Amino acid sequence: MSKLPPNTFPLAGHNVNRMGYGAMQLAGPGVFGPPKDRNTAIAVLKEAVASGVNHIDTSDFYGPHITNQIIREALHPYPADLLLVTKLGATRGQDASWQPAQEPDQLRRGVEDNLHNLGVDVLDVVNLRIMGDIHHPSEGSIARQMNAMAEMQRQGLIRHIGLSNVTSAQVAEAQGIAKIVCVQNQYNLVERQDEKLVDELAAQGIAYVPFFPLGGFSPIQSDALSKLAAGLEATPMQVALAWLLHRSPNILLIPGTSSLTHLRENLRAAELQLPESALTALAALGKTSRAA
Ligand SMILES: NC(=O)c1ccc[n+]([C@@H]2O[C@H](COP(=O)([O-])OP(=O)(O)OC[C@H]3O[C@@H](n4cnc5c(N)ncnc54)[C@H](OP(=O)(O)O)[C@@H]3O)[C@@H](O)[C@H]2O)c1
Repeated sequence: MSKLPPNTFPLAGHNVNRMGYGAMQLAGPGVFGPPKDRNTAIAVLKEAVASGVNHIDTSDFYGPHITNQIIREALHPYPADLLLVTKLGATRGQDASWQPAQEPDQLRRGVEDNLHNLGVDVLDVVNLRIMGDIHHPSEGSIARQMNAMAEMQRQGLIRHIGLSNVTSAQVAEAQGIAKIVCVQNQYNLVERQDEKLVDELAAQGIAYVPFFPLGGFSPIQSDALSKLAAGLEATPMQVALAWLLHRSPNILLIPGTSSLTHLRENLRAAELQLPESALTALAALGKTSRAA
């Protein structure tokens, strides 16, 4: 097993490796119910950590509860340098639907579920996930939810607060209530609507953690990307991850996979250097504004 090269960014008092891991794919199909192969899910987590991953993204609404329970089974007692980042703001219906859960009592229940299922007394980092337009942010005050988060931080249940699926104005509003250590929005090689926010956060030393870094449930497919990757003796997914690492030093990666083979492939992207000619070609693949 090869180890990740050192390439870190400060997040919540930890120097996290910029190549992390997202645990959402460890639940069953549609992020609901148990995985087909629990042993492999556990092996993926153990190998990620053994390879040098020290930043894992999760939520108690993955499964629900199941992903956190698998993390606990695989990794508890947790290594001191491992940063577990979870998120609040939704629950799951019996039909696997995603329901907003943004009321203060619902956020508190979310914290209690995370504490219980991860087996910890305090949560390292909790992202407040705004439900907006589901995968895209939409404007509107988030003060009510943020006040509830700040209150749980004062009570010692949460160490650090992050945000997910938010606009630049919402980040600024939240910063008036509590310190924000990271922002998790959708962003990847082809979905680049957050260009400005990435740079704004970089200027403030705040981590930007793209969700769907590989394109999400339907990983990115592009003939141009496949051709370019072949020329670099890499895979398209490795190029997509290497591009994100190159884009800005505050970008932290949490690619999700349920497969050991894909995990190994993704971790190797940390060693891939993209030449100028590749960066120029990749610039053309991005969509920087949202389709009407
Ligand atoms: N804040 C939010 O609202 C939000 C939303 C979504 C996700 N997230 C977080 O972000 C993390 C990453 O997002 P994601 O897992 O949804 O999407 P992703 O990382 O963009 O892509 C995951 C998909 O790509 C496949 N894949 C992974 N590595 C691959 C490879 N090397 N070759 C081919 N296919 C590969 C996975 O299937 P296999 O399992 O077969 O590898 C899975 O279908 C999640 O784990 C979660 O922690 C947050």
